[in-house]
Amino acid sequence: MAPMRVTIIGTGYVGLTTGTALAYFGHEVTFVDKNPEIVERLRAGVPTIHEAGLAEIMEAGRCSSVFRTDIPELSGTGVVMIAVGTPSKRNGDADLSFVDAAATEVADLVQPGARLVVVNKSTVPVGSARHVEGIISRRLAARGVEAEVHVASNPEFLAEGRAVLDTLYPDRIVIGTESPIATGLLRELYAPILEQTFEPPPGSPRPERYELPPLITTTPTSAELTKYAANSFLATKISFINEFSVLAEKVGADITEVARAIGLDQRIGPRFLQAGIGWGGSCFGKDTAAVLALGSAYDYDLQLVRSAVEVNRRQRMFVVDKLQQQLKVLRGTTIGLLGLAFKGNTDDMRDSPALTLVQELHERGAVLRVHDPVAMPSAKRHFPDLPVEYADDEVQLACGCDAVVVVTDWDQYRRLPLERMAAAMRGRLVLDARNLLQRQSVTAAGLDYVGIGR
Ligand SMILES: NC(=O)c1ccc[n+]([C@@H]2O[C@H](COP(=O)([O-])OP(=O)(O)OC[C@H]3O[C@@H](n4cnc5c(N)ncnc54)[C@H](O)[C@@H]3O)[C@@H](O)[C@H]2O)c1
Repeated sequence: MAPMRVTIIGTGYVGLTTGTALAYFGHEVTFVDKNPEIVERLRAGVPTIHEAGLAEIMEAGRCSSVFRTDIPELSGTGVVMIAVGTPSKRNGDADLSFVDAAATEVADLVQPGARLVVVNKSTVPVGSARHVEGIISRRLAARGVEAEVHVASNPEFLAEGRAVLDTLYPDRIVIGTESPIATGLLRELYAPILEQTFEPPPGSPRPERYELPPLITTTPTSAELTKYAANSFLATKISFINEFSVLAEKVGADITEVARAIGLDQRIGPRFLQAGIGWGGSCFGKDTAAVLALGSAYDYDLQLVRSAVEVNRRQRMFVVDKLQQQLKVLRGTTIGLLGLAFKGNTDDMRDSPALTLVQELHERGAVLRVHDPVAMPSAKRHFPDLPVEYADDEVQLACGCDAVVVVTDWDQYRRLPLERMAAAMRGRLVLDARNLLQRQSVTAAGLDYVGIGR
């Protein structure tokens, strides 16, 4: 493989993981983030996000990686990936201001004669490839610079918590562009993944029976819509099982049994069928909002997506109400929350259900104590005013608690020191909002078990 020059703009979950994988393959990667603290930590070889296997490939690709706070001059042939945030605007639409800023900076640094592919890796609304192309070509014309710049949409489908595995062994790679040159260069860039020619890092082995991922080439609009369709579908699938979890409780069924039985149907599949407190994270909420805003711009109401969002909101409140039903009066109680991250294996707390629990229970007068294996530093940094006490471990968390709630599906919470927790608690309630625990183990420790839909 001939190494290519790649510039990654934005080193968050997507930019850092993608760039690190590309450097691991031997491409020459320049990581740019406008946040100097992030750049400083990355230069020191410290990953700025919690992802299994990331530190290992970062170290292995160190010689091919450069970290900086500004974009270098862009000359010769190369790929530029825009992987900045696209948060929600008030009307739900994606806010493209970070993308616009990045595209403008890129345009200002393109050198005469350069041959570049600029990739929208961020999740962006339909029309964004053309929008970015417009920003760049107008800027180049104003500067009087002649260069070849091809724009492509290359949506990212990684799941946080397994970002490295999803990047090295994706189900597919989607490239949406009108430019055959862009397709050719991106095929070359991703050749190590498409052909699986790299040596798997020991910490992120190739999954058994993994098949070579197809490269799907589409129009930019199809690629852009694909990303929103994928996230809307996944959010809907989770909301579907959550909706049935409430019905299961009403009729006396066990949703875990129902989920297993329907998940074995190959048309349905077992993933994303775990009933619980609902989805969160940086993507599903903002992407479903953006899809609804897109629909309304075309005078079209996406009723399924709208319902998935509403069911998710209701599911979080279902957990709060369950707690209230069990304890009757929340004012003056101490509640322990096991988990802050929006799901296990990540430190990301963006739109985490834990934030809803903290807010709702705090408003109802409960004192909150929290524990998370990795997200506590990010909580202290990003949400310094969270009205909570931080516990070092699960037993300290349980001390004097009237109830303990499992909020995040961390694997270590499957093996809670239940007897020591029971001895430390004031009350007996364990509310398993992720259906992670065995009822018998909890009751054997002298505690009361309440799950979701069981
Ligand atoms: N997080 C995920 O699991 C995931 C998965 C697929 C797609 N996406 C999409 O990818 C995009 C990025 O998501 P993320 O979670 O990695 O974001 P993030 O917030 O973790 O990281 C974005 C980074 O971009 C930097 N940045 C912003 N503007 C910049 C600029 N002009 N120059 C240099 N750096 C700049 C920020 O400082 C930040 O570090 C979003 O559109 C998101 O929807 C995210």
